[in-house]
Amino acid sequence: MTRFTLNGRATTVDVDEDTPLLWVIRDEIGLTGTKFGCGIGMCGACTVHVGGRATRSCVTTLGAVDGSEITTIEGLDPAGAHPVQTTWKELQVPQCGYCQSGQIMQAVALLKDFPRPTDEEIDAVMTGNLCRCMTYARIRAAIKKAAEASHG
Ligand code: FES
Ligand code: FES
Repeated sequence: MTRFTLNGRATTVDVDEDTPLLWVIRDEIGLTGTKFGCGIGMCGACTVHVGGRATRSCVTTLGAVDGSEITTIEGLDPAGAHPVQTTWKELQVPQCGYCQSGQIMQAVALLKDFPRPTDEEIDAVMTGNLCRCMTYARIRAAIKKAAEASHG
């Protein structure tokens, strides 16, 4: 048995502790907002927060998160209205959308570390989150707008 907090709820799963967290979240718990892209920690589609840090769930074992606080895209805000999500909608960032929950989770973590990020800081932190649809310019603009909305 592995116990953790998922989106604010105490959660227990009976799964091999070597199982990637991504598959536990998607297949065992049924939260499918977190996506599978590469499976080797290289694209960012599977990004969730573990202990508030952006974490690639495809290369994180269930055993490694025993006792942790985990947040997925579904848990950022009950109404999907986290400031970063709101800004994402306003600027119509997504194209196909596949990478976007990972982008948003990474962006939320970025804004904790850099409340007023420069272009260089955004590029440095977001570089591991790939987008086949090339939405990078809108992602950067949305991160800056979300920072402004939070701090005026
Ligand atoms: S699916 Fe995890 S980094 Fe690509
Ligand atoms: S919006 Fe299509 S992969 Fe990023």
